[in-house]
Amino acid sequence: MSDHSKYSFKDDKPQREPKKSAPSEKAYPVSASWGDESDAVGSIDRLIAMSAEGDPRRYELFRLRQQVQERELTLQEAKAAIEKMEDVLKKVTAPANRIGVYLGSPKKGIAHVAVGGSDYYTNIDPRLSNELNVGTRVLLNEAFCVIGDLGYEASGPVGKISDLLSDGRLRVGEEHGTRSIVLHRSSHLKEKTLKHGDEIRIDTGYRVALEHIETKEQRGHFLEEVPEMPWKQIGGQTEAIAAIKDAIEMPLVYPDMFKKFHYTTPKGFLLYGPPGCGKTLIGKATAYNLTLKLKETTGKTVQHCFIHIKGPEILNMWVGESERMVREIFAAAREKRKEGYLPFLFIDEAESILGTRRASRFHSMTSTLVPMFCSEMDGIESLHDVVVILASNRADLIDPAILRPGRIDRKIKVQRPTMEGAEEIFRIYLTNDLPFDPATQKSHSNSAAKTADFLAERAVNALFAHNDENRFLEVALRSGRKDMLYRGDLISGAIIASIVDRAKETALKRAIKSKNDEGVSEEDLLHAIQSEYVENDIFPPTDITEDWLMLLDHDPENVVKVSPIRASRAHEKKGVSRVV
Ligand SMILES: Nc1ncnc2c1ncn2[C@@H]1O[C@H](COP(=O)(O)OP(=O)(O)O)[C@@H](O)[C@H]1O
Ligand SMILES: [Mg+2]
Repeated sequence: MSDHSKYSFKDDKPQREPKKSAPSEKAYPVSASWGDESDAVGSIDRLIAMSAEGDPRRYELFRLRQQVQERELTLQEAKAAIEKMEDVLKKVTAPANRIGVYLGSPKKGIAHVAVGGSDYYTNIDPRLSNELNVGTRVLLNEAFCVIGDLGYEASGPVGKISDLLSDGRLRVGEEHGTRSIVLHRSSHLKEKTLKHGDEIRIDTGYRVALEHIETKEQRGHFLEEVPEMPWKQIGGQTEAIAAIKDAIEMPLVYPDMFKKFHYTTPKGFLLYGPPGCGKTLIGKATAYNLTLKLKETTGKTVQHCFIHIKGPEILNMWVGESERMVREIFAAAREKRKEGYLPFLFIDEAESILGTRRASRFHSMTSTLVPMFCSEMDGIESLHDVVVILASNRADLIDPAILRPGRIDRKIKVQRPTMEGAEEIFRIYLTNDLPFDPATQKSHSNSAAKTADFLAERAVNALFAHNDENRFLEVALRSGRKDMLYRGDLISGAIIASIVDRAKETALKRAIKSKNDEGVSEEDLLHAIQSEYVENDIFPPTDITEDWLMLLDHDPENVVKVSPIRASRAHEKKGVSRVV
């Protein structure tokens, strides 16, 4: 090209003096036999070189040269466009690549793939550098040769492992329907510890288990943090706490002594009693205090893990899978034990899942739960493995099989607080750092502790007085006797906590409004007691005897009718209900 441009620049006259009007007709004839265009330009250049300067033909030659060059360019573009078209045409008319699932390699360079129900042994493109994973999707060309790795499929059916075969294969049943299949494990699952009941995702051809799908429960849904809860945070339950210490603290702390005396350690215990008296609280406190005690006596750091099963809630969550639920909960506890924790299995509202058939609304489900639970309990060596705690408001409804010796054989009653107990609980919530009514505090030598003692005493006296205002419930017994229950007879830790909260709320509002020194007063507490018994939703809103039974200390068998005394409260406005 440089040669050509040399000419055009060396002699640029024609460009400067274009004679548009007349390209001479006697221009040199252009031979059509010129081979290619660059040759043509070369020939023209030679002709130009031969012609004398000033020769009029020279101008024609320059024009000719330009035209030839332009055409050459157009031709090149056209060629490129055609090539591109040909490429596109090839692509759009090429057959689709099949996708198969790689099942393994019988020998190097050969793949066993499944494509839509048929199996093939095919070559692997040696340019595929990565090793293929069992279960991965592979791209196949027309000859079914593996030419690409597409990775694992991201969607597909899910099944539940019903059996683990000794060679690692998995027997899987589908969620709905009866089909049961045996699957290979994907490379991804090769080393994974899977267990019966685990959910896995399957490739759409039903050959390979691809992925373990963790369910909500397995992610530790029921594991709960236990807050710091020393025994002194629980009021009026001295007996229950002592019984727990006997039942589980001693055997755990002094296992050798128990062995020496051939004394069988219990595996678990049942906390029973009316709602709101601290069963859940005691369950959690047991976990907290026991691990603390173990740390103290053995010097080893033990960590607790608190598995909190809320009866009805878990039933809803595991609809139709009750047996698996029990198995999995115990498995989770054992797993935790292996990890070095001391697991506490706390089953709240136990009568809802471990009740007699008569007891449960879900009886079709629970009928299989009780035997399952019993067999799991029988599998526990002692409470060194798992501490099982049941809590119930209606222990009478729990299946007796559960409470047989060797299972949950310690029953600990969590009573309603006595007057002293109630005072203790008031004192737990009326802490010494609260602002109290200044006048009251002044008359108690300015001591917050003395003021709180005084207020607690006053509140308890008001609660337990057998006066008209405190008449709460009439219970008709089978014997024909009628019992009158007063507010104090139905007191609980939960109600006391709520009363103190209400009183604090009133004092707080007053303090904000008046901007004076204000604090919790006796009136606040008395008023709070009044509202608590009207609004609290611990008490059933209906007169249905069955609903009230769990609140009573009477044997349900002996109660004929329960009539709440509401007359004096009918006119009172129902306020915002308090949750306890
Ligand atoms: N003996 C108690 N001492 C202190 N607080 C209590 C006591 N009993 C109940 N409470 C309060 O009531 C709440 C509910 O008690 P909870 O332990 O759930 O009762 P239960 O499980 O017996 O129905 C507790 O969180 C606590 O605030
Ligand atoms: Mg509870």
